[in-house]
Amino acid sequence: LSRQTRRAYADAAPVKKPRKFRYFRWAWRLTYLYVLGSIGYQKNLVILGTGWGSVALLKKLDTENYNVIVVSPRNYFLFTPLLPSCTTGNIEHRSIMEPVRQILRSKKASAMYYEAECTHIDAERKVIKISDNSDVKGDVHVTEVPYDMLVVGVGAENATFGIPGVRENSCFLKEIKDAQAIRTKIMDCVETAGFKDQKPEEISRLMHMVVVGGGPTGVEFAGELRDFFDEDIKKLVPEIADSFKVTLVEALPNVLPMFSKQLIDYTESTFKEEHIEIMTKTMVKNVTDKYIEAEISRPDGKKELTRIPYGLLVWATGNALRPLVKDLMSQIPAQKDSRRGLAVNEYLVVQGARDIWAVGDCAVAGYAPTAQVASQEGAFLARLFNNMAKTEALEAKVHELSSSLNVQPGNSAQVVQEIESTERQLRRIKDIKPFHYSHQGSLAYIGSEKAVADVAWLNGNLASGGKLTYLFWRSAYLSMCFSSE
Ligand code: FAD
Ligand code: NAI
Repeated sequence: LSRQTRRAYADAAPVKKPRKFRYFRWAWRLTYLYVLGSIGYQKNLVILGTGWGSVALLKKLDTENYNVIVVSPRNYFLFTPLLPSCTTGNIEHRSIMEPVRQILRSKKASAMYYEAECTHIDAERKVIKISDNSDVKGDVHVTEVPYDMLVVGVGAENATFGIPGVRENSCFLKEIKDAQAIRTKIMDCVETAGFKDQKPEEISRLMHMVVVGGGPTGVEFAGELRDFFDEDIKKLVPEIADSFKVTLVEALPNVLPMFSKQLIDYTESTFKEEHIEIMTKTMVKNVTDKYIEAEISRPDGKKELTRIPYGLLVWATGNALRPLVKDLMSQIPAQKDSRRGLAVNEYLVVQGARDIWAVGDCAVAGYAPTAQVASQEGAFLARLFNNMAKTEALEAKVHELSSSLNVQPGNSAQVVQEIESTERQLRRIKDIKPFHYSHQGSLAYIGSEKAVADVAWLNGNLASGGKLTYLFWRSAYLSMCFSSE
């Protein structure tokens, strides 16, 4: 096998293998024999998660080559870029959900799906523990699933940095239920503000919508919220209109740090026009049920503590590791220095583990935790696994033809020709290149039918913002929503 293919199959393949470690070569030979020996037996390929990474893998995978088992507590794929629009009802939540069963039904060979959370990966025994955490439970709701190959695509959870009161008092924006909760809470704030004899100060608090985190999630949500107010609430409940206010709180000196300076300035000036207040260099330290406490860094270097009363608080400060990922990392010595997720090699093999790959937000491959990266990684693994299966089949054929040479020497010329042609095919597909991410650009909606885009263009970058960019944003995402891939 070529060096690259070996690394793709590889178990704990370190980036550089010192030659003196001959036992690696032996380990590889044994793995190779195991692969040959197991031909005819379909390997259990267990895929954790139904997000961007895992679904991209599933869609491109030739399921007939493996015994595919998908495990995820969410029985649908969620098109996250349009989730902020669901918080205000601008987009119906069902239109950004794709049932897993439907995806599996479209595959050539059947694949299993279990609606469950994986609670433990036993890398030693090659078994995962799964638990049905849904409201309806049967007699069996905890069990084990063995795997030959495991793909971890469980994403990340919301980061709170241990700040007191965040979990109890804020809304997050990651899942459909979060978007629904936000929508309910906005309307609750509006109706409570309109309650008989409500004091002006309390009306101002209730109508103050605070978003913490000036990354794309926070910015897009703040923009959607302002639109919702201008287009609906203002007309429906004009008596409280003057009290409505959106504030975006960000610890860094500016919002959208991943965009170019020009687009950051454009976003900030658009927010000013939309009356969305941006508080930069403001780090939230504590959250109560009615106000947040934040530390503002003044230009002279002084720090000042401020209290910001709120009605709705949306917390969008990025990603944190899921307990499952932390648990797996703690079992693998090679992961001890990794902080942001499962360190993987250039074939997305989890460093230091056997037969475990990782994709998306839970993997650290040197890219930002985005849908774009996750889906390209998932598609890469599908190509890799499809190739691995083809390789195994062709190797079995070579093996069989070679054996038949001894049994039927009369046909040897024809058999040798066939072996050579099969080996040529093998060489072609064995040469699997490492994963390479192709960045298509960043897009974000900023409200008032305006968007910002940093897109790859003719070997360079094109930065644009405004209404035309919004049309581009909308058509790009809508077309992706309707596409089957
Ligand atoms: P996810 O898509 O989060 O999927 C994880 C899956 O794992 C889920 O199905 C979950 O139920 C399942 N799971 C969780 N725990 C377990 C467990 N223990 N066992 C089994 N399964 C489990 N990125 C962009 O590139 N462009 C955008 O415009 C964009 N917009 C976004 C908007 C919002 C509001 C958010 C929150 C994110 C956005 N992102 C965007 C980021 C993007 O959504 C993530 O990077 C992407 O979802 C990561 O994909 P993933 O497959 O790693 O994880
Ligand atoms: P993020 O990590 O991009 O941004 C979080 C922000 O919160 C940071 O700017 C951070 O400084 C700030 N923050 C952290 N703690 C804070 C505190 N205590 N007080 C105040 N501010 C604090 O997180 P986000 O926006 O959720 O994005 C996560 C990932 O998803 C990113 O990789 C992002 O690129 C991607 N994404 C992409 C979108 C797009 O391309 N349109 C949309 C949404 C997410």
